[in-house]
Amino acid sequence: MISQQTIQQILSRIDVIEIVGGFVKLKKRGANYLGLCPFHNEKTPSFTVSPTKEIYKCFGCGRSGNSISFLMEHEKYSYVEALRWLANKYNVEIEETETSPELKQIQQVADSLYIINNFAQKYFSDTLFNIDEGQDNGLSYLKERGFREEVIKKFQLGYCLRDRDAFARAALAAQFNPEFLQRSGLVVMREEKLVDNYRGRIIFPVHNHSGKILGFGARIIGKNEKAPKYINTPENEIYIKSKILYGSYFARQAIDKNDECLLVEGYTDVISLHQAGIENVVASGGTSLTQDQLRLVKKYTNNLTIIYDGDSAGIKAALRGLDMALEEGLNVKLVLIPDKEDPDSYVHKVGATKFQDFIKANKKDFILFQLEVSLHDAGNDTNKKAETVNLIAETISKLNKVEDFTKQQDYIRRCAELLKIEETGLNALVNKFIRQKISKQEIKLPFDEAKYYEEQTQQKGFEDDTMVLLQKDELQERALIRCLIEFGLKNWGEPLRVADYILEEYADIIDNPRLLRITEMYKTWYQENLEPTSKNFLYHEDLQLSADVVSLLDFPYELSHNWKDHFEGKILTREELYLEEVKSTINYLKLRKIKRLIEENQKDLESFHTSEEQVVLIQTHQHLKQMETQLTSQMGTVILR
Ligand code: UTP
Ligand code: MN
Repeated sequence: MISQQTIQQILSRIDVIEIVGGFVKLKKRGANYLGLCPFHNEKTPSFTVSPTKEIYKCFGCGRSGNSISFLMEHEKYSYVEALRWLANKYNVEIEETETSPELKQIQQVADSLYIINNFAQKYFSDTLFNIDEGQDNGLSYLKERGFREEVIKKFQLGYCLRDRDAFARAALAAQFNPEFLQRSGLVVMREEKLVDNYRGRIIFPVHNHSGKILGFGARIIGKNEKAPKYINTPENEIYIKSKILYGSYFARQAIDKNDECLLVEGYTDVISLHQAGIENVVASGGTSLTQDQLRLVKKYTNNLTIIYDGDSAGIKAALRGLDMALEEGLNVKLVLIPDKEDPDSYVHKVGATKFQDFIKANKKDFILFQLEVSLHDAGNDTNKKAETVNLIAETISKLNKVEDFTKQQDYIRRCAELLKIEETGLNALVNKFIRQKISKQEIKLPFDEAKYYEEQTQQKGFEDDTMVLLQKDELQERALIRCLIEFGLKNWGEPLRVADYILEEYADIIDNPRLLRITEMYKTWYQENLEPTSKNFLYHEDLQLSADVVSLLDFPYELSHNWKDHFEGKILTREELYLEEVKSTINYLKLRKIKRLIEENQKDLESFHTSEEQVVLIQTHQHLKQMETQLTSQMGTVILR
């Protein structure tokens, strides 16, 4: 974990104009900067960046956020990745804190699993090459399929003996922990004994992108209707299927060099293509692609070419991953292998050169492919055709990153042509989907909230003081927390600071749980001597918290008429008035609390009581009334706005 001190250092250097400006061309307009929104397609700029508030907001699509959320959104970084990127940019040295006990535990299990997998891979490879059964059963099968020894060695393939527990015994003799051995999936418990899970199978180690072994795929030899073709490692601390692309370790450099990643379904497809000299290839295991897998691809290239066999199951799985790939900004192409072949068998059949020529000649654009397939399905059915138009518009709408604008326009033109509809109509439909998508994602906007409260207060009228006060409760609570964030570190009267005073009082007088959360957070930081400011919240990992604080700070602030009169037209800034403001807000909230207590007490009095109880209640009432008078006189007219 990155320490709070480091985060603080990073935050103190963040310059939103510099960061956003690194990705979007910005021009100065008054106090703000303006540019073309990177999140939706526009011709006139409505993307505004405020250097003072350190936030951006697009008035076209409504998207808003801060430097960190911009990096998360635009560059698809995680929160921590964004911080690391910033640390690097501003030359801040990252200090890591102690990890939590839970995390440590997970890391320990993960380390053990890596060691076990490493041991197992060596054991199985040794069996494949040096034990009779391995050679006769395993190696001969692989060679029959056309795999040469060097590629078998490169991918560290192995063989697991048919024996009940040969590996289990070897692993126990090597002192491995039986529990971790089971977590690795290499062995299972049968009748209180550990037995091998991959008996009589070819072993395919699965490496992560830096070459560590995460787990295994174990293929049955030949055909067997009863047993599954592959047994894979169960999900554990290191084998997380949704994050794995088989072959990424061996493909990395070639992907980089070719600026293209080929995606196939299976282990054997990857290995055969490698053997044929085509090394920029990974496999997804036949399921549809996940976001994590796509991000892994995107680390190396923007060009993804999916090579599947022509059977429908494979295509459907591939199509499911498509929209996400587009959202990741990948250029997706599709190649279908003909005649019931798969990449593995096809490359064996036609050889490397012809295979590559075939790929080059048959790359289809994924979006156009999808359109062709559904147009073909729709035939003359107008309803189905309308569905297709919607489907394709939605797909095109996912291409809404800056670098994709021209691409998007291009697709709209080509698809409109294929569909025989007006380009402008399709354009409008695409824009509708973009707006829908954004409004679904959007966090509540700060100004709307303020407006809501204002309207509420005005609608209900001002006849009754208490009513007015109650309606303003929320506003006052917000005002107090705003003071805490803005003025918390200012002097309250030696040796206290404003935060000391507010943190002493807040617990009883703040009701809103979200405001309470902000306050608790502030308190923790403050007690750790972190000198919290709005930045700590603005850039918090929890986007809800960050949005809440943006909404607080964005809250329109107006001096009450009474104040203006009080200072006889001399308008002071909030800065100059912070002591007044904190005091009056706290007093107000206290007064509200007392009024509530009085009400409750009165209700209590109305029900039946013994005379002693009544005396206590009346005394309480008098005491509360006294406090109320005291407070009101202290506040004078200033607070009762
Ligand atoms: P395939 O059946 O195409 O396997 O499934 P393959 O690797 O090409 O094997 P061969 O050529 O028949 O020997 C594609 C992928 O789907 C996963 C595996 O990752 C496989 O590589 N799969 C398939 C399983 O996980 N379990 C299965 O039972 C079958
Ligand atoms: Mn195959």
